[in-house]
Amino acid sequence: MKDILQQLEDRRATARLGGGQRRIDAQHAKGKLTARERIELLLDEGSFEEFDMFVAHRCTDFGMEADRPAGDGVVTGWGTVNGRMVYVFAQDFTVMGGSVSETHAAKICKIMDMALQNGAPVIGMNDSGGARIQEGVASLAAYGEVFQRNILASGVVPQISLIMGPCAGGAVYSPAMTDFIFMVKDSSYMFVTGPDVVKTVTNEQVTAEELGGASTHTRKSSVADGAFENDVEALAETRRLIDFLPLNNREKAPVRPFFDDPARIEPSLDTLVPDNPNQPYDMKELILKLADEADFFEIQRDFAANIITGFIRLEGQSIGVVANQPMVLAGCLDIDASRKAARFVRFCDAFEIPILTLVDVPGFLPGTSQEYGGVIKHGAKLLFAYGEATVPKVTVLTRKTYGGAYVVMSSKHLRGDFNYAWPTAEVAVMGAKGAVEILYRSELGDKEKIAGRVKDYEDRFANPFVAAEKGFIDEVIMPHSTRRRVARAFASLRSKKLTNPWKKHDNIPL
Ligand code: HXC
Repeated sequence: MKDILQQLEDRRATARLGGGQRRIDAQHAKGKLTARERIELLLDEGSFEEFDMFVAHRCTDFGMEADRPAGDGVVTGWGTVNGRMVYVFAQDFTVMGGSVSETHAAKICKIMDMALQNGAPVIGMNDSGGARIQEGVASLAAYGEVFQRNILASGVVPQISLIMGPCAGGAVYSPAMTDFIFMVKDSSYMFVTGPDVVKTVTNEQVTAEELGGASTHTRKSSVADGAFENDVEALAETRRLIDFLPLNNREKAPVRPFFDDPARIEPSLDTLVPDNPNQPYDMKELILKLADEADFFEIQRDFAANIITGFIRLEGQSIGVVANQPMVLAGCLDIDASRKAARFVRFCDAFEIPILTLVDVPGFLPGTSQEYGGVIKHGAKLLFAYGEATVPKVTVLTRKTYGGAYVVMSSKHLRGDFNYAWPTAEVAVMGAKGAVEILYRSELGDKEKIAGRVKDYEDRFANPFVAAEKGFIDEVIMPHSTRRRVARAFASLRSKKLTNPWKKHDNIPL
């Protein structure tokens, strides 16, 4: 009996070594952790339960039958993050470069099926040379199986991808279909075709980092939602994100203990909006002052910074925040901002996370590049996302909101539950100067007359009361009491029930 126990221990020890000490050392030399080290850091201590440690590939081509490492290049299982269950897979680059064989993919599919069945998130740590070349089409088919599960799990359980090494070819499409992608700076990349193919086809000379590194995907393409300095930071931040999310679409996000008075008054907010309407201010200051303990998890910080998206807590409850940022492009909506915010709003709605919208928006960005780029369709994404969302929606209008952007930004007309405005707010079709230039074109030569018209227009419309008279604004509130008002609003909406008409699915303008 003892021998048998020892045999198991020996087999486990071999499996844990993956591709062997030499390759583990090489992994460390690149500043990367191994698959098992990553899982250990991601999960609560001692909580990992492994599946399929002894699974080996079935390939017999290219002499592969002589090399059948236990686990087949991916470590899978489940564990907890701050006591809440998650399923994980971590590709092991030390075993055939973490390449995906039929059995490797089957292991991933197994935990995805269990995650869906048991209602818990899937966190994938990607570090792979792609399809296992020796297995050919079997490996492609296996990828297809993973993709199909990504699609079925979308909107049912949160899916998070950490890119911690190479991720190329069709392999990128599994992470692309998950909810959040985080990359590690300098050691991860994602592209559909690598630098060599790019050179051959388009004659462009580009490094892997330039083509698909963390900076490219968080700043230019917006494929990734965040970039971190190293594996340790990426894993710690993923734990932080998981704390904001429900385990599945039928559960609420966890309520965390909080040590911040929900009625906290913030006198500094009374002077946040400058007297000069053209002077910007930092909307992040408002977010941090509203949030419990100033804790804000930002999504896509480095992309389309004219809109801010991320998670806070109010009275310990997770809230998704969407906010125009006057510091960047005056906070206007453009193609990138609309896409970024629309995806975020849809994530929140899919997982029953209430949405707080902070509005200071001069409108949509004009220009041929925007029109040719399809700002109509992209802007409509955000409009559509807000309009279909049935989660509690609270909106605070801090300064101005003009034109279509007024309607888009979680207005009353898109089933906003609470639409608050600060006294500094202004709701209008457009700014006073623009309006007067259209209405009084014949008087444009007379500067004095025009100045009078601008003043008249401002007196009439540059306030929140015209909208409040019509009930489009529910209440004009003091900036210093915003945290209390917003927290109470969300508290009153905790048992909100709203459903959309039955449909197979909608047809959001993609
Ligand atoms: C089998 C692979 C492999 C692969 C790497 N290895 N990629 N084995 N299939 N796809 C093995 C190597 O032979 C090597 O084995 C070990 O993993 C480490 O690889 P190195 O090349 O030594 O590492 P490094 O120099 O860091 O380079 C990593 C790499 C490179 C950039 C990922 O290995 C590479 O270019 N691999 C091929 C990538 C590729 O073309 N994949 C197919 C993409 S198409 P030893 O025994 O020496 O340690 C695709 C389609 C998916 O994925 C489609 C889905 C629908």
